[in-house]
Amino acid sequence: MEYRTLGGTGTVVSAQCLGTMTFGKESSEEVSHAQLDRFIERGGNFIDTADVYSRGLSEEIVGRWLAARQGVRDQIVVATKGRFPMGDGPNDAGLTRTSLSRALDASLRRLGVETIDLYQAHAWDPLTPIEETLRFFDDAVRAGKIRYAGVSNFLGWQLQKAALTAQFRGLVPVVTLQPQYNLLVRDIEFELVDVCRNESIGILPWSPLAGGWLTGKYARDHTPTGATRLGEDPQRGMEAYAPRNAQERTWQVIDAVRQVADGRGVSMSQVALAWVAGRPAITSVILGARTLEQLDDNLGAAELRLSEQERGLLTEVSSPIVSDYPYGTPGAQQRSRALPPSIGG
Ligand SMILES: NC(=O)c1ccc[n+]([C@@H]2O[C@H](COP(=O)([O-])OP(=O)(O)OC[C@H]3O[C@@H](n4cnc5c(N)ncnc54)[C@H](OP(=O)(O)O)[C@@H]3O)[C@@H](O)[C@H]2O)c1
Repeated sequence: MEYRTLGGTGTVVSAQCLGTMTFGKESSEEVSHAQLDRFIERGGNFIDTADVYSRGLSEEIVGRWLAARQGVRDQIVVATKGRFPMGDGPNDAGLTRTSLSRALDASLRRLGVETIDLYQAHAWDPLTPIEETLRFFDDAVRAGKIRYAGVSNFLGWQLQKAALTAQFRGLVPVVTLQPQYNLLVRDIEFELVDVCRNESIGILPWSPLAGGWLTGKYARDHTPTGATRLGEDPQRGMEAYAPRNAQERTWQVIDAVRQVADGRGVSMSQVALAWVAGRPAITSVILGARTLEQLDDNLGAAELRLSEQERGLLTEVSSPIVSDYPYGTPGAQQRSRALPPSIGG
């Protein structure tokens, strides 16, 4: 397992993080604990959860696992998130100090820990000034309740505003961004990756397999069935399947992942995960698995190094579709500036 720093901090995390969104839902507590055991056996030290995963059950499952494994807590970097409603009251959601202090205390209780290593705003809150949220993070660090602060699902301007506000006000920095990023969804490359590189913010990609699509389990013009994320809920399945199925690019990307996987004799999941892990500013790729077998497969990506040619093929076929301005070639030309030729000697 490779280790990388958590954004601009000196804290070191495994380049694969164990996501726990399946815990208490697709994965029983027993399977979830087996996944956690396997993950640390293989060198992983970074776990991501959120209060809303299975309405608190995912955090509780992680908490019971930490309590039952002596000495493990100090070896693990635990990340969780708050922002989405956990109750029905008008102030049970958002990034205010009221809602976040309640959410953070509840997460600490469910996880059974004194301090959360990385506490993340699950998404931007248009009603709350970002200063208030950052001040809350700063107070929480001083109170010993969290060690670092991060954000998730922010847009480029939101992340830049958060980073600069923290700097100008002398508050704890935003050290990570958790966005969706995979071979089918590369939109973070328009703005967010540059913000992260400029501000030393580490990227923690979620859904690196696009929710299972990049494993090759979904087929063209075949309604998903069976024990898969899209197959289990036919309504959700069709809503999520149809638009992606209709795009030729989806199947071109999946075919390219299959081609590289066949050439190397590895699984498609490993190829898709290795591609994400090798992209700029990536700190740790958040794995998701329903079963121990899936997790074993995905952990295998930690040892896979793609060649320049393989990376080039995947990067090219999955290039985000851009209109001409501001992200396309004409927009890039307007932003570029050449130095004038030198005159004389
Ligand atoms: N911040 C956010 O808003 C946000 C949002 C989503 C996720 N996350 C985080 O990111 C983590 C990962 O997200 P994700 O679960 O969507 O990741 P993903 O890797 O894109 O999808 C995982 C799903 O793909 C299938 N799968 C995984 N490995 C497989 C394999 N080797 N072979 C066949 N199928 C396989 C499984 O679903 P089936 O067996 O059901 O097909 C599994 O649940 C979550 O646990 C959570 O921690 C964060």
